[in-house]
Amino acid sequence: MLELGAGHGRDALCFARQGFTVRATDFSPTGLRQLRHAAHEQDVAERISTMVHDVREPLPIPNATVDAVFAHMLLCMALSTGEIHALADEIRRVLRPGGTFVYTVRHTGDAHYGAGTAHGDDIYEHSGFAVHFFPRALVDSLAEGWTLDEVHPFEEGDLPRRLWRVTQTLPG
Ligand SMILES: C[S@@+](CC[C@H](N)C(=O)[O-])C[C@H]1O[C@@H](n2cnc3c(N)ncnc32)[C@H](O)[C@@H]1O
Repeated sequence: MLELGAGHGRDALCFARQGFTVRATDFSPTGLRQLRHAAHEQDVAERISTMVHDVREPLPIPNATVDAVFAHMLLCMALSTGEIHALADEIRRVLRPGGTFVYTVRHTGDAHYGAGTAHGDDIYEHSGFAVHFFPRALVDSLAEGWTLDEVHPFEEGDLPRRLWRVTQTLPG
């Protein structure tokens, strides 16, 4: 599987411990260095590779070679709607037929939506961090041509803390 915006790898490490082979990417080499160190300590280094990559650029991965893509709180970072759509097209390109894309995002249903400094395109600054709050229409448009399996609401971390976990699958 391919993880985008893996940070220091809390999820990549969890997937590897469960037996998945993970390619973890992020545009920060610092987090990925910590991830590699932790992978050695947890004896899963052979199942994790890392790659520095900015998701605003095309993925350097061949067509239809990945079984699943995972992105926890990446798409709701400082990405424009156009950049998010371009990324979804890239994810579609690298996934095998029947492949799954699971992502989580902050959304406009959160009471804190709009409470920060507005930067347009549903992007607000909260405590120095830019957050792109997803309207449901954006979730639906990213799933066009896919099967939208689930939009699961949950909460995590500091305010704003309401998230959706979206699971969508390509036709087989
Ligand atoms: C909120 S953190 C989530 C990290 C990790 N997924 C987790 O849940 O612990 C967002 C991550 O996305 C990365 N990121 C933000 N913009 C990015 C971009 N344009 N390309 C690649 N990574 C990016 C950040 O470096 C950070 O590690």
